[in-house]
Amino acid sequence: KTKGDAVYYTLKAKQASTTFKPGVKTQTMGYNGSYLGPTIRVKRGQTVHTKVVNQLNQRTSLHWHGALIPGKADGGPLEPIAAGKTKQTTFKVDQQAATLWYHPHAMGTTASQVYHGLAGFMLVDDQNSQKLKLPKKYGVDDFPVVVQDRTFSRSGQFSYQADYNADGTEGNTLLVNGTLNPYINVKTNQVRLRLLNGSNARTYHFTLNHGATMRQIATDGGFLNHPVKMSRIDLAPGQRAEVVVNTAGVSAKTLALRTNGQRVLQLRLNQKRTGRTTLPKTLNHLTPTGRLNQFGLKHQTIRFSGMGRMVRINDRVYNPNRIDLTAKPHSNQIWTLTNNDSMMGGMDHPFHIHGAQFRILSINGKRPSATQSGLMDVVNLKPDQKVRVLISFHDRGIFVYHCHNLEHEENGMMGQVKVE
Ligand code: C2O
Ligand code: CU
Ligand code: CU
Repeated sequence: KTKGDAVYYTLKAKQASTTFKPGVKTQTMGYNGSYLGPTIRVKRGQTVHTKVVNQLNQRTSLHWHGALIPGKADGGPLEPIAAGKTKQTTFKVDQQAATLWYHPHAMGTTASQVYHGLAGFMLVDDQNSQKLKLPKKYGVDDFPVVVQDRTFSRSGQFSYQADYNADGTEGNTLLVNGTLNPYINVKTNQVRLRLLNGSNARTYHFTLNHGATMRQIATDGGFLNHPVKMSRIDLAPGQRAEVVVNTAGVSAKTLALRTNGQRVLQLRLNQKRTGRTTLPKTLNHLTPTGRLNQFGLKHQTIRFSGMGRMVRINDRVYNPNRIDLTAKPHSNQIWTLTNNDSMMGGMDHPFHIHGAQFRILSINGKRPSATQSGLMDVVNLKPDQKVRVLISFHDRGIFVYHCHNLEHEENGMMGQVKVE
């Protein structure tokens, strides 16, 4: 619902059932519908009024992942909604065009609720995104693509409990936008895919077959300065990438987006494809990494360690009553993120922070690549990696930062920064 410069959204979290496999009803959770939630579209400057109705029999919350909004509206673990209760929040969109998402974040129920289907997209537009000559017809040449791995039991149910792994629950079947064996009909030369890794723990390595080209145009927090030709796109849990696939020179009838040899999404190519075949050369004006001002900034070190139920950040387990770090609103800090735990075998830890975005300064001392130089809210830390980031805080409030492997997060791999 729109009223002047305000938009109103009601999201009802509920238990439901979904037919993924013919004749089988799988118990799921969804917002308004039976699995996932509506795509929310907002514009920079707009006021967004949201009403979250918890129709589940357990607590939930609704977190706006990637949104630069006050702590009170963030919907993290400090703002749970009890079963049967409703929560209203209002925030102003104060960031550039980007592909964001939303999902629950209450302690103890996050991982299983996301697994059962509670997640959705929030797409932000601004003057730049409205002006740029890019594919932007939703469902025609501009598609949200949320990729999730699930395991179905013999009776066709999600087996979250049975498959639970304290180091990240992974499934053996891919769902894209809540469907098995997904495809899209492509009628244009260029198609934009807004890829979101909405899985609890699995990392994807997306490629295209038939030598088709994929150009990355955006990272988590917005457009890159220029489109970057990519043969492979790696996405850790929670991460997004927008890519434009150019099908103009492709003679095959179909293309496949794949991960590790498995098909993720089939593109069925209409033989008479129309429309633009080029992309704008300049998409954004981010300060190049080497020219970001680092002078006089506060430094923090964030160390990820442990496995399973023993995960820690700076040797501590999450405590909602403890403030671990502080920052000033609209200030920058340099955080050194480390994962130096190879003694324990070593695991990836995708670092994520709420209410802020960051730029990567270095990865093991090296400058980031072009596609690692965009605005981020998730960066994967591989074993023994040291990633330095320049974090820009925004609004006031208490925000969490955590490992976006949702089982690690639930096991306490999370801390809090108070912005005031
Ligand atoms: Cu995707 Cu703490 O969030
Ligand atoms: Cu988040
Ligand atoms: Cu982790």
